[in-house]
Amino acid sequence: MLGVETSCDETAVALYGGAEGLLAHRVYSQTELHAAWGGVVPELASRDHVAKLPGLTRALLAEAGLAPGDVGGVAYTAGPGLAGALLVGCGFARALGYAWRVPTVAVHHLEGHLLAPRLEADAPDFPYLALLVSGGHTMLVDVRALGDYRVLGESLDDAAGEAFDKTAKLLGLGYPGGAALARLAEAGRPGAFRFPRPMLDRPGLDFSFSGLKTAAVVAMAAASDEPQTRADLARAFEDAIVDTLVEKTARALALTRSPRLVVAGGVGANRRLREGLRAKAAEYGVTVHYPRPEFCTDNAAMIALAGHARLSAGERGDLGFEARARWPLSELKPPAPAAVPAAS
Ligand code: KG4
Ligand code: ZN
Repeated sequence: MLGVETSCDETAVALYGGAEGLLAHRVYSQTELHAAWGGVVPELASRDHVAKLPGLTRALLAEAGLAPGDVGGVAYTAGPGLAGALLVGCGFARALGYAWRVPTVAVHHLEGHLLAPRLEADAPDFPYLALLVSGGHTMLVDVRALGDYRVLGESLDDAAGEAFDKTAKLLGLGYPGGAALARLAEAGRPGAFRFPRPMLDRPGLDFSFSGLKTAAVVAMAAASDEPQTRADLARAFEDAIVDTLVEKTARALALTRSPRLVVAGGVGANRRLREGLRAKAAEYGVTVHYPRPEFCTDNAAMIALAGHARLSAGERGDLGFEARARWPLSELKPPAPAAVPAAS
């Protein structure tokens, strides 16, 4: 299975085999291209995907020692994401599928993230609870089987990584500054400042981080610019986010009685979050899985794996064009085997 991912500013391709597992994967990040503009410019992203996909795919096949004739299917990210960027990946995948006479499968980007830990040797069995925390998403999902996902809670405003990045920017730490903020927080004194734990006082598993950012702005305006104070502020902010994520994850573990917890997304690299989750998981007797960082962030290996799982389960591709900028995860269904013609 060839996987193609172009939903945002990473151009990624991967080859995945049912028996072999991941054969090769490549990610080209456009970060430099967009840096001058302070954020992702959709039209530039689309154009760069067009420019990079053919060369990346040729290099990928060469690295795996495979020829086009060895590819049995093409999986591509059909959404959610930037419409133009998605269309490039979709057009590319469909064209290859047509030329190579193999099926193409439309994959939901978040299904890719949810299944990414299955790229690892110690792949978690279903069911598991997934905490997806990145620059774009904050979600707790009950992963029961392929295509059977129950969204238990999600962010009503900023994603956790986005909140880290915005506060890091206020502290003059550059962009994306989540990791830099966490480093600064190491020197901070716990309890020197205290920020609210958003939505912990209410039932439910949704998150909201924009108010926390506002609290940080107010505290920073009133505080001095001394290094120790900045570190204290970073520590207070990190503690508030981590406590919220850990507590809501614990509630979700209690609710689902999941035997396993999977943590994905860039914020999953945060040391304090990992410590907090490890302690909670021990309390609940569940195992914790972290995909390696390159599978936590956007990649095509997870798309190839998801497409392979769906094709193997009987889903049939068609030659229609599917690119959905918005696509709620709740609309996803388990693989739908093609209708078997009735015997006459
Ligand atoms: O999954 P990811 O690589 O991709 C996007 O969603 O784009 O997540 C990136 C996010 C950024 O917001 C970054 O600041 C945050 O993960 N991040 C961290 C840490 N390392 C990366 N946030 C907190 N602590 C960290 N150590
Ligand atoms: Zn993603």
